[in-house]
Amino acid sequence: MTAGSDLLGRYAGSMVQVFGTPQLVLASGDGCWVTDVDGKRYLDLLSGIAVNALGHGHPALVQAVTKQAESAIHVSNFFTSEPAIALAERILAVADAPEGSGVFFANSGTEATEAAIKLSRRTGRTRIIALEGSFHGRSTGALALTHKAAYREPFEPLIPEVVFVPPGDAEALTAAVDDATAAVFLEPVQGEAGVRELSVDYLRLARELTSVHGALLVVDEIQTGIGRTGDWFAHQASGIVPDAMTLAKGLGGGVPIGALVTFGPDVTALLTTGQHGTTFGGNPLACAAGLAVLDTIERDHLLEHVRRVAALLDDVRIEGVAGTRGRGLLRAIELDGIPSAAVMVAARDAGFIVNAVTPTALRLAPPLVISEEQLQGFLDALPSILEAARAAGEAAP
Ligand SMILES: Cc1ncc(COP(=O)(O)O)c(C=O)c1O
Repeated sequence: MTAGSDLLGRYAGSMVQVFGTPQLVLASGDGCWVTDVDGKRYLDLLSGIAVNALGHGHPALVQAVTKQAESAIHVSNFFTSEPAIALAERILAVADAPEGSGVFFANSGTEATEAAIKLSRRTGRTRIIALEGSFHGRSTGALALTHKAAYREPFEPLIPEVVFVPPGDAEALTAAVDDATAAVFLEPVQGEAGVRELSVDYLRLARELTSVHGALLVVDEIQTGIGRTGDWFAHQASGIVPDAMTLAKGLGGGVPIGALVTFGPDVTALLTTGQHGTTFGGNPLACAAGLAVLDTIERDHLLEHVRRVAALLDDVRIEGVAGTRGRGLLRAIELDGIPSAAVMVAARDAGFIVNAVTPTALRLAPPLVISEEQLQGFLDALPSILEAARAAGEAAP
């Protein structure tokens, strides 16, 4: 028995089984590599689902967290700390947020969504427009805005008055948004739906409609933000200024943190003293991690790096690949007739971690620091991975 299979046996006997059986038991990481408990190394092309923005064990992040842990890990919301204030200021700066904007720190993406839902209720309205294919989180408020029936239906009834419209359908959005709409929630690139980008025109239409009808435009940048698409935030490529933005994942580089950003004084003023809170939100440890991530992205010019490296994925001409989509280092590889689950397994066997985001597509969301050589190494290995997946499919009964 390997150390991995022994630990997975213990996992099965000790955990609530919401994730099924994990693929691997990972022991450590170093840069863009992770190692499992049996000593096998993998190139990490998923980075904890768009979380480990700086890869694993990045010195700037390790030093920031270590130093902060030595002074103060938690102070409660009766107090505050310099890392929290400094991180809020930095987020507002890179978001080009106008004067009077604000940040509420939470601990995860779903909590950021909850805060945004509560913000939207403060408009005095309750109807929310979300997109088909959307994923905004698993807590019951966020779940109501998450489209996949299998996630939602076991927990219904959820909050009412959520209307789903097909992404990219200008007519449907125009018909849905009216003077009773509290907010439109959207992901500029729908991650869990299979990395599907919304067009610039559609984002601009969403901005215009929400402005005309006095509704909030909430952009969920939980997966797309913090440099993932080659901009600080994906919506910036369209030039729109949202009313609110949710963040998590890459913000802490692996340390749990979420945030709601409110744009401008009127939106910021919607949530007043006592109307929202969380024990751990804004703790100095997570905020020091966030500062290290933002500092490193800026210092090492990682936005430019992401755009340069990601160009390798613009045009993948490999037999068995139908095409790629997405932006920056949030990409899908659409497969031609080979189930993505089989390719994911074959990739793992070959030493690469990827994600079968839909039955026909792989998702790549590697650390922002991945090198061209590392990414090219995967592309070079892809034909034999696809071949192995095909052969495994033919061998299966
Ligand atoms: C776009 C988006 N929104 C919200 C969430 C929920 O974040 P969390 O899992 O941290 O609650 C996710 C997580 O995958 C996400 O991709």
